[in-house]
Amino acid sequence: MKEFWNERYAEEAYAYGQEANDFIKAQQIGTGLKVLCLAEGEGRNAVYIASLGNDVTCIDYSQEGLQKTARLAQMNGVQVTGICEDLSQTQLQQEHWDLIVGVFAHFPAHVKEHIWPQVFAALKPGGQLLMEVYDQEQLRFGTGGPQHLDLLYGKEELEALLTKQFNSIQIEKIYRDVHEGVYHNGAAATLQVRALK
Ligand SMILES: C[S@@+](CC[C@H](N)C(=O)[O-])C[C@H]1O[C@@H](n2cnc3c(N)ncnc32)[C@H](O)[C@@H]1O
Repeated sequence: MKEFWNERYAEEAYAYGQEANDFIKAQQIGTGLKVLCLAEGEGRNAVYIASLGNDVTCIDYSQEGLQKTARLAQMNGVQVTGICEDLSQTQLQQEHWDLIVGVFAHFPAHVKEHIWPQVFAALKPGGQLLMEVYDQEQLRFGTGGPQHLDLLYGKEELEALLTKQFNSIQIEKIYRDVHEGVYHNGAAATLQVRALK
């Protein structure tokens, strides 16, 4: 799979565009925050959040993606820290982040089960999790995202993966048009998560 992503990101164009995800742009993200973007690919969300005046780190296992992140950051006059790591191995530092972001962060079950339950402890008190991922129903839309059910998400699955200790957690299934680069294009079913520690 890592080779798949490196090949995709070796293309000149940004696969999911250079603009941040619509859901992320719609949030009131503050400034001066320590932010972690998981599976951030070519860095469009990281660069946007850094441009708001935040200290942003991305983790992704695609070296090509991280190189494009660095390029996009430079083009926008911001700095983003990139960590090349397989999220199935990542141990998140506890109470370290004000905001954790996961946009279209799709993985097999063993990676989901390793990373998502760590998020609660990794957030500082008052910290926030923001996610948008494709719902399993996305398979019937055929407008982007993984073609395998296990790489997609269900609402109940996400409820189980994210700890129930959050002060508030909202997981919403929505239908919307996604136009984010050439690979995410058209009517879609997604899950949007806003959780506060
Ligand atoms: C659909 S892309 C999303 C990219 C970015 N978040 C965005 O919205 O533009 C999924 C990303 O997950 C990364 N990824 C998948 N499995 C991973 C793993 N086990 N460890 C680290 N990154 C992974 C891929 O390299 C890819 O960049």
